[in-house]
Amino acid sequence: MVKRKSSITIAALVGLATVFVAGGIYAGTKVPDVIKMQNPAYTEHTKGIVEFSHKKHVEDYKAACSDCHHDDKGQPLTDLKMGDNVESCITCHKIPGTVPGEMKKEWRETKMAQSEQAKRELEFHAEALHQNCISCHKDFNKKNNSKAAPVTCTTCHPKSE
Ligand code: HEC
Ligand code: HEC
Ligand code: HEC
Ligand code: HEC
Repeated sequence: MVKRKSSITIAALVGLATVFVAGGIYAGTKVPDVIKMQNPAYTEHTKGIVEFSHKKHVEDYKAACSDCHHDDKGQPLTDLKMGDNVESCITCHKIPGTVPGEMKKEWRETKMAQSEQAKRELEFHAEALHQNCISCHKDFNKKNNSKAAPVTCTTCHPKSE
């Protein structure tokens, strides 16, 4: 059974997120060595704030800019270099957070095609981040028989207190 009230709340939330993001441009040419991943589009962070070592990823772990940054079609930005203007993930992956459980349930219940579900999932900021970060970490750990790249919640999101 689909609860009416919650669908409306979710629709309102999505609408709000869209308006909020359309009102501001998120992009920049400068990037700190370590980014505190606390995107201002979120009203609240429920998990510990992830410290992302942007510089180490590029210099020590040899990740290419295009492993993480792509264009408005999702195509890797292979010519990107330091000093270029780069759009924040939230510009396109607009909705803060992960897909709410109730929305996932609704998708299943209405038998939405897997491809459509995957597409909608990517509209959520935290889903896009998780997919990007964790897929590379998994590959790296598997290839190197290592645990150096974090894949569990608390190795990325420090426990508060
Ligand atoms: C491992 C993933 C990863 C790699 C590799 C990477 N970046 Fe980033 N970069 C990010 C993330 C995540 C952010 C934060 C974006 C956000 O907050 O939406 C970011 C932010 C930035 C920003 C700031 C954008 C802003 O909104 O202020 C710039 C500029 C940037 N990166 C340039 C580069 C360049 C140039 C390279 C290659 C030399 C590179 N990045 C490599 C993931 C990466
Ligand atoms: C200019 C718009 C735009 C920006 C900025 C952007 N994306 Fe995307 N992203 C897309 C589009 C479009 C797709 C393809 C969506 C689809 O296939 O349904 C995509 C796909 C993805 C995917 C799934 C496909 C893949 O490459 O594995 C991930 C994960 C992802 N983005 C993460 C990120 C992260 C992390 C950032 C910030 C570092 C970011 N995106 C910035 C537009 C953007
Ligand atoms: C293209 C591959 C790749 C992507 C994408 C990537 N990482 Fe990593 N990351 C690595 C590797 C490789 C290591 C471990 C390197 C080592 O310790 O030898 C690592 C280690 C880390 C660590 C622990 C060590 C440190 O430097 O703090 C954190 C935290 C981390 N990554 C966060 C992130 C986050 C957050 C994202 C997404 C925004 C991300 N990573 C995306 C490759 C990647
Ligand atoms: C590789 C690092 C990494 C791992 C592992 C990871 N996350 Fe995240 N998570 C992030 C990043 C980066 C963001 C984006 C935060 C931002 O930019 O504000 C995020 C955002 C979130 C958010 C939305 C923001 C918030 O605090 O409410 C939730 C919820 C979340 N993650 C839950 C989880 C859970 C649950 C797990 C384990 C199943 C997990 N994450 C594993 C990196 C990670």
